[in-house]
Amino acid sequence: MKSILIIDDDPLIRKTLSSHLAKDKFEVLMAEDGGEGLEQYEQCLPDLVILDIRLPDMDGLEALRLIKEKNKNASIIIMTAYDDMKTTVDAIKLGAFEYLVKPLDHVELDLTIAKAFQVQNLEDKLSYLVEEKQKEYTIDNIIGRSPQMREVFKLIGSVAPTRTNILIQGESGTGKELVAKAIHYNSPFNREPFIVINCSAITDTLLESELFGHVKGAFTDAVCETKGKFEIAGKGTLFLDEIGDVSSSLQSKLLRVIETRDFMKVGGEKVLKTEARIIAATNQNLRALIEKGTFREDLYYRLKVVVIQLPPLRSKKEDIPELVGYLLEKINNELRRNVKKVPPPVMEILKEHTWRGNVRELENALTRAVILAKGDVLLEENLPLEGAEKKILPRELVPIKDVEMNYIQHVLTEMRGNKTKTCRILQISRPTLDKKIKEYDLKI
Ligand SMILES: Nc1ncnc2c1ncn2[C@@H]1O[C@H](COP(=O)(O)OP(=O)(O)OP(=O)(O)O)[C@@H](O)[C@H]1O
Ligand SMILES: [Mg+2]
Repeated sequence: MKSILIIDDDPLIRKTLSSHLAKDKFEVLMAEDGGEGLEQYEQCLPDLVILDIRLPDMDGLEALRLIKEKNKNASIIIMTAYDDMKTTVDAIKLGAFEYLVKPLDHVELDLTIAKAFQVQNLEDKLSYLVEEKQKEYTIDNIIGRSPQMREVFKLIGSVAPTRTNILIQGESGTGKELVAKAIHYNSPFNREPFIVINCSAITDTLLESELFGHVKGAFTDAVCETKGKFEIAGKGTLFLDEIGDVSSSLQSKLLRVIETRDFMKVGGEKVLKTEARIIAATNQNLRALIEKGTFREDLYYRLKVVVIQLPPLRSKKEDIPELVGYLLEKINNELRRNVKKVPPPVMEILKEHTWRGNVRELENALTRAVILAKGDVLLEENLPLEGAEKKILPRELVPIKDVEMNYIQHVLTEMRGNKTKTCRILQISRPTLDKKIKEYDLKI
C-alpha cells in the first residue's frame, strides 16, 4: 500500500484530504507543521508528500528543500491558497512534482497523484536498468589475475571517479570497449549516457556531423538540425574508438573541443559547451603515427592523461583457464547449452594457441565449439585452431567464389539449415547469408 504524508496546518483540510485519500486505499500520515512533517518523513519515508506552502513554523519551500535533502527522489505535491507564479516556479525548481491551488479539486488531485506514482515507477525501472548495466560491467566481469591485468584493475579503480581523459591502447579484441564501459558504469555519472563512436567506420564529413551535430542546410542532406554526440553525451562518456583513424582536419577540431570544451555544429555559429568525459581507444601505435606525421602530437598528449595498456592474450596465458570458464558460462547461457567440461589436453591447446584476435577470437572459437558439441564436453576437433585451414583447402586451384559457395553450403548442411548458427560460425550477418544463399542457389 502506498503511503502519503499530508503537511498542512488547517485541520479541516487534513481531515477532508485524509478521508478522501484513505478511500482511495492509501495509507495516510498527517502533520500540522513543517517540523512535525520532517520528523514524520524521516521516520516513515512516505511514497508521496502533499505539502502546504504556508506553514506556521517555516516557509513551505524551506520544508520542501529539507525533504529533498533527505531524499532527492522524494515526490512532493505543493498546495497553496494563492495562484502565485513565483512560488510555483521556485517549488518546481526545488524539485516539487506538481503545484495545486486551493481549494483542491479532488479529480485533479487524484490525477496528479496517479501521475506522480507513474513517474516514480519509471524512475525505479530506470535505476533498475542502470543497476543491471552496472552489474554487467562490474570489474568482476573483467577476468584476469595476471600482473598486467592487476595493473589494469588498479587504474580502472583510480580513474573511474574522476573526469580525466583516458587513452586505452591494445590489440584488437583485448577488451578496450569492455574497460571503457567498466569505467563509465563505475563512475558517479553512470546515469548519463555512454556513447560509442567508431571513428574509422564512417566518412570524415559524416563523422564530423556525428560528433558535433549540424544545422539545417549545412550540407545537401542536412534537412533538419541535429545534435552531435558531444552534446548528447551530457556529463556521460564519449568513447572515441579507433582514434588513430581520424583525419588531420578533424584532429584539430577534436583538439579544440578537448582543450576548451567549446564546439560548433557543422554550419553553425553558436558556440556550445560539452561536459562529456572522453575515453579514446586505438589498436594502433600512436607514437609511430606521430612520427609518420599522420597523428597530432598535441592531441595525443591531451588524450593520454591516463593510459591503460591492455595486454595481448598470448602474454597472459595464466588468465586463459579462468577466461575459458567465464566465456563458456556466458556462451552456454546465450545458446541455452551446457557444454562445461574442458579436458586438460584441450585446455593446454587453448593455452598454447597464439590468439591473434585475442579474447574476441577465443570467444568466437568457444562459441563455435559449443554449437558443434554433441554432449557436454568441449572437443578439440571443434576448435578452429591450427591445421583447420588445411582440412578445408580444396584439392584443386579454384576461384575463391567456388570455395565460398562450397564452404557456406557445408556449414549450412552441418547446421541442418539453421541460419542463426550458420551466421555465428561464419561470422557474417543474416542479410549477407541470405544474399549468398540466393546468389549461389544453396540448399537449406
Ligand atoms: N578480460 C576480459 N574478461 C572477460 N571478457 C573479456 C575480457 N577482455 C575481452 N573480453 C571480451 O572479449 C570481447 C572483445 O572485447 P572488446 O570489444 O572490448 O575488445 P576491443 O579491444 O574493443 O576490440 P576491437 O579493437 O576489435 O574493437 C568482448 O566480448 C569482451 O566482453
Ligand atoms: Mg572495440
